[in-house]
Amino acid sequence: APSPLLRRALLAAARSPRLRRTITGVPVTRRVVDRFVAGETEPQAIAVTRSVLDSGRSVTIDYLGEDTTDVADANATVSHYLALLSALAPFTEDGTGAGTIEVSLKLSALGQRLARDGEAIALDNAHKICAAADEAGVLVTVDAEDHTTTDSTLSIVRALREDFPSLGTVLQAYLRRTEADCKELSGPGSRIRLCKGAYQEPASVAYQRKPEIDTAYVRCLRILMSGQGYPMVASHDPAMIAAALHLADATGRRADEFELQMLYGIRDAEQLRLAGERRRVRVYLPYGDEWYGYFMRRLAERPANLAFFLRSLVSR
Ligand code: FDA
Repeated sequence: APSPLLRRALLAAARSPRLRRTITGVPVTRRVVDRFVAGETEPQAIAVTRSVLDSGRSVTIDYLGEDTTDVADANATVSHYLALLSALAPFTEDGTGAGTIEVSLKLSALGQRLARDGEAIALDNAHKICAAADEAGVLVTVDAEDHTTTDSTLSIVRALREDFPSLGTVLQAYLRRTEADCKELSGPGSRIRLCKGAYQEPASVAYQRKPEIDTAYVRCLRILMSGQGYPMVASHDPAMIAAALHLADATGRRADEFELQMLYGIRDAEQLRLAGERRRVRVYLPYGDEWYGYFMRRLAERPANLAFFLRSLVSR
């Protein structure tokens, strides 16, 4: 894992508009970004979707964007999702694609942080996307962002689930509150994607050290696996995956009663190996030109990712 100092610097950089302009302006960045992002345009994302589906994995597609500061941007994000969903409809038309295609949403990209009525605007925007997804036979899961948004996000998800009971939500094991959230949200029909968490958070709300985060992750997994919902295990960590497979076995879950999820471009061979063992594997597939924050969080996770980026800058 990267040193805490480096991780903190990279996560701060992820939110700096000045660095964002600098880094996105470097032409060679593109090549490195392509490892983690399935293109800038919708046709590119659709092409990658097709090849991931052909390899026996399912997908969750994310139109990149976060921390929207005006209503027009939030509306533009909704339009992108609606266009994406019409482009995805043919994949599910014959009924064989049911459940294999999902979109992931960030409520902050839909207006959640707008000073005036942000929450109501995000709810309304997410509702439009959920309705279109329903129509297209596509699932939806709401991403988790920094801890200041958790209460708001979970209350929006609760409201949306009244109309769209299959709506999934992400919980972050590094937050101290998450075990309680897992208990509350592991009821019938729930779809919970459990990840470790990718933001810079204070010790008052989040575990800081990897061993603590890992044991919290396993405690949450245990709750979700023994619950009545559908656990979605989002991690590249071999120890977390082994724990999930063990707990699924111990709680008598069949292979189609939970799934493993990884990010596009990370441990691709392992994703294929697991899919080859008839495990359900879903790939989180981000696309779009707003890749900066997402990309910086990936660099913060792993020194090898950062080294790859720096090497390609100097070996130009
Ligand atoms: P961690 O980063 O601790 O890595 C543990 C081990 O995994 C490594 O030691 C190594 O063995 C292996 N590994 C990791 N990367 C590797 C690589 N590139 N190559 C080879 N081995 C590697 N976060 C969030 O805050 N909100 C969200 O909504 C989401 N959504 C989300 C969806 C999905 C499907 C995934 C997979 C992840 C997220 N995340 C997220 C990100 C998540 O919180 C977390 O930051 C990353 O997944 C990294 O944590 P890991 O669990 O992978 O383990």
